[in-house]
Amino acid sequence: MRTKILLDEDAMPKAWYNIQADLPAPLAPPLHPGTGKPVTPDDLAAIFPRELIRQEMATERSIPIPDEVRDILRLWRPSPLYRARRLEEHLKTPAKIYYKWEGVSPPGSHKPNTAVPQAYYNRQEGIERIATETGAGQWGSSLAFATALFGMTCTVYMVRSSYTQKPYRKSMMQVYGAECLPSPSERTASGRKVLADYPDTPGSLGIAISEAVEDAVNHPNTNYALGSVLNHVCLHQTVIGLEAREQLAMEDTYPDTVIGCVGGGSNFAGLAFPFVGEKLRGRYPETDVVGVEPTACPTLTKGLFAYDYGDIAGLTPLLKMFTLGHDFVPPAIHAGGLRYHGVSPLVAHLTDAGAMRAVSYHQNEVFDAAITFARTEGIVVAPEAAHAVKAAIDAAIECRKTGEEKVILFNNSGHGNFDFASYDIYLAGGLPDYEYPAELIRESLAHLPKVG
Ligand SMILES: Cc1ncc(COP(=O)(O)O)c(C=O)c1O
Repeated sequence: MRTKILLDEDAMPKAWYNIQADLPAPLAPPLHPGTGKPVTPDDLAAIFPRELIRQEMATERSIPIPDEVRDILRLWRPSPLYRARRLEEHLKTPAKIYYKWEGVSPPGSHKPNTAVPQAYYNRQEGIERIATETGAGQWGSSLAFATALFGMTCTVYMVRSSYTQKPYRKSMMQVYGAECLPSPSERTASGRKVLADYPDTPGSLGIAISEAVEDAVNHPNTNYALGSVLNHVCLHQTVIGLEAREQLAMEDTYPDTVIGCVGGGSNFAGLAFPFVGEKLRGRYPETDVVGVEPTACPTLTKGLFAYDYGDIAGLTPLLKMFTLGHDFVPPAIHAGGLRYHGVSPLVAHLTDAGAMRAVSYHQNEVFDAAITFARTEGIVVAPEAAHAVKAAIDAAIECRKTGEEKVILFNNSGHGNFDFASYDIYLAGGLPDYEYPAELIRESLAHLPKVG
């Protein structure tokens, strides 16, 4: 009976899986924020390298991973798949719980799986600096890591509430040679406007994205990179699910339930898309695919499926996604990486098509689950990943009630080694649970852009 299921280094995927090849209907195109017409590759070339723009729109099923990128991913990939035996015993469940452990990357999460190829393609096209936003700090430190390896510099606009909650994420970015500013900042017009209107704002990913895009547009040899949401980001993350499928095959098994937390949707997509692809192609049609989000920022469970901006200032293309409105600023919950008003258009499309479903939880029950996991499996997970842990525990408890021996697979997207301030507050009983902010969401949904 194995606990840790490992692949050889050579078994690391040689190509990413592109779910656009298997969608029942094509994605709604992104629209230009000025003209309302579908964006062209030339529109995007101001801030993205050509190859990433090509991947964003690609419809072939398989896209090769460059050798230089695989060489770096090899530092931590293939990542281990664990069977959570002690958690199973603790829950007295007949279910088998497996988790893919992405906390083994140097910055501590799944984010470098896309930071490395993004830095690589930018460097290939002569870019010297990348501007970006970060919520939890995992993406900022991952891009700082990747740009350092390719000899580039990096500026990170870090959502203010996370900047305060997690000072050592900023330190990590600085160790890698990046600059990290709390957002909103005085550095950009979008940041200055928010600071003037709302000096005490906790910040949001939507605000930080506006700052990073503005920075990239206004500086030569500087591009913008996004750590989630976009198709090419979800594509790069599929190494997670491709490896997991092989690892489960080594156990002669296949999951009944696939679970991932959803902020912008990239770690969820990374684990789930290879399994959703099987489902869309008519194999394993019963697989239950579940995205997990916070009740305080319930994009998939309470948002509208509509075109909206990715950022507060309306600088990004309009994406058809589930949205809570681009000027919605979520409560300052401790899973900073899940505080996003929108979601990946691919994840939204699959939810709308019924190929997956979503659930939401309050932060105290999520931290309860994280504590159970730490005391059985030993890993202190990031608050974002703890949402997936909670849903996996609930699915296993359901099996205890029904007696079903389901195979539950979830993505453990990152460690919480910089999140102990949040754990301290939870352990002291001081973590608030925010009700679904219905009034705020109603207001921001009233500001959705008019399309068509
Ligand atoms: C550990 C971890 N998991 C999940 C997320 C959510 O992002 P995504 O939905 O893109 O995976 C983040 C975001 O920062 C994160 O740091």
